[in-house]
Parts: sequence; C-alpha cells; structure tokens
Amino acid sequence: MKLLCLMSMAVVLASTSSVLADGDAIAGAVVFKKCGACHTATGPDNRVGPSLMGVVGRPVASKPDYAYSPAMKAFGADGKVWDEALLRKYLPAPQFLVKGTRMSFPGLKSDRDLDNLIAYLKNPAAAQ
Ligand code: HEC
Repeated sequence: MKLLCLMSMAVVLASTSSVLADGDAIAGAVVFKKCGACHTATGPDNRVGPSLMGVVGRPVASKPDYAYSPAMKAFGADGKVWDEALLRKYLPAPQFLVKGTRMSFPGLKSDRDLDNLIAYLKNPAAAQ
C-alpha cells in the first residue's frame, strides 16, 4: 500500500508542475465522482452535461454538439472563458451564478476540493 502511494506520487511529480502548484489531480479524480453521473473529462462525449475534456480555458457554452440551456448560452454570450477564476465562482453555487442553468448540482463548498478538482480537470491523465 505504501509502495503504491509512493508510485502514484511519482506519477504526479512526473507530470506538469502546474498540477502540483494548484492541487492534487488524484484527489481531484475522487471529487470528480460527484460530477461523473453527468460529465466525463476524459473523452469528448456528452452525457446529461457536456464533456468537460479541456474545459479549463474553453469558452462558456462552446461545445457545438451540446444543446445548452438559454441561460448558459446567455451567460457565455459576451465571450467568457472557463478559466480557474470563473470555475471557482461557478462550482460552489452553479444556480446562483448562472440563474436558470440546467445543471442541477448544489455546489462544491470546500476550497480544497475545488483546488484538487481543477487540477484534475486540467490534466485528467495525471490521475490514471
Ligand atoms: C446532475 C447532473 C450534473 C452534475 C452532477 C454536474 N453537472 Fe455540470 N452540467 C450539467 C448540465 C446539464 C450542464 C449544462 C448546463 C446548461 O446548459 O445550462 C452542465 C454544465 C457544466 C459546465 C459548463 C460547460 C460548458 O461547456 O460551458 C461546467 C464547467 C460544469 N458543468 C462542471 C461541472 C462539475 C465540475 C461538476 C462536479 C463538481 C458538475 N458539473 C456536476 C449537469 C451536471
């Protein structure tokens, strides 16, 4: 068990340093289970929600093969991008930031969970 832990740390260390700076992608993969019923981050397919592959740095409501709600389209109409700052505003209370969004998720309240989740979204491969 201890060896396994050391090995997975080595994987994190070997991947990009931004993963280390912002959070732990492996812990973030566990947090992502809360999103996994509706989203994948490791493939392009949409589920109930759009694929989140490459979402950090992607413009809001920009996946052409996903039917966003009018609320999400309006929120992104001025060219907003899902950078870290915007994700940190959105994820603790999605319905509060984007009134009328179809994403029925109450929100992630823990900063640590957010750090780790964002590290995972930036680099899901680090957690595999
Ligand atoms: C119950 C299903 C559900 C859960 C759980 C869920 N989402 Fe969503 N998510 C959606 C739906 C549906 C949309 C599209 C919203 C719209 O069009 O209003 C969405 C949209 C998004 C978007 C905007 C994507 C874009 O292309 O603009 C992000 C970012 C996002 N979700 C992140 C997350 C994260 C991270 C989690 C877990 C912490 C999560 N979601 C949990 C259903 C869900």
